[in-house]
Amino acid sequence: MSATGSARLRRFIADMTQLVGGAVQDRDEDAIVEVGARLLADLVRHDDWLPELAAQGPPHGYAQNLLWCDPLERFSVVSFVCASGALTPVHDHCVWGLVGMLRGSETSQAFVRDPASGRLSLGSLSVLAPGDVEVLRPSRGDIHQVSNVLKDRSSISIHVYGGNIGAVRRHVYDSGTHEERPFVSGYTNRVVPNFWDRSTETRGSD
Ligand SMILES: [Fe+2]
Repeated sequence: MSATGSARLRRFIADMTQLVGGAVQDRDEDAIVEVGARLLADLVRHDDWLPELAAQGPPHGYAQNLLWCDPLERFSVVSFVCASGALTPVHDHCVWGLVGMLRGSETSQAFVRDPASGRLSLGSLSVLAPGDVEVLRPSRGDIHQVSNVLKDRSSISIHVYGGNIGAVRRHVYDSGTHEERPFVSGYTNRVVPNFWDRSTETRGSD
């Protein structure tokens, strides 16, 4: 993480904080996801800022590393590190979400759930390349399954959610039986990276 890189992440967090602070709760979700998607696209256009701690994941499966949670839990930012060949369960989010591809490539397979029967059917398939941003909104259906396209290394996407996503009550779905089960994801990392130490630049300006 370079000094320029950590400044990029601090700027993004400041911009998101102002964005959610200016919103009237719930009513301004359209504006938050529209402007937030542009901010996230700017962030993931450069790959020089992700702290190494948050770029780590398991050899199999995936990690959801917390980078930042707003003190009022209006939004959180995580790095999703998906190992080669890994596939998430079919899941929803229950809050708005933005997925920005930083490194590698992921697929997002959408599912549509019939409200009467609860049966899932396949929706659209998105393939994300670095710089791409996908918007997830519960009001429009946000059930999906994510996989890493790359067979030889991890892919990393940066997710922004409209809440403290690790503590949000949401759901996973059995794609065979279509059964819905409660799910609270938590976070993989126990230590959140420090990208707030600006002492070097402060001393340099003496
Ligand atoms: Fe997801």
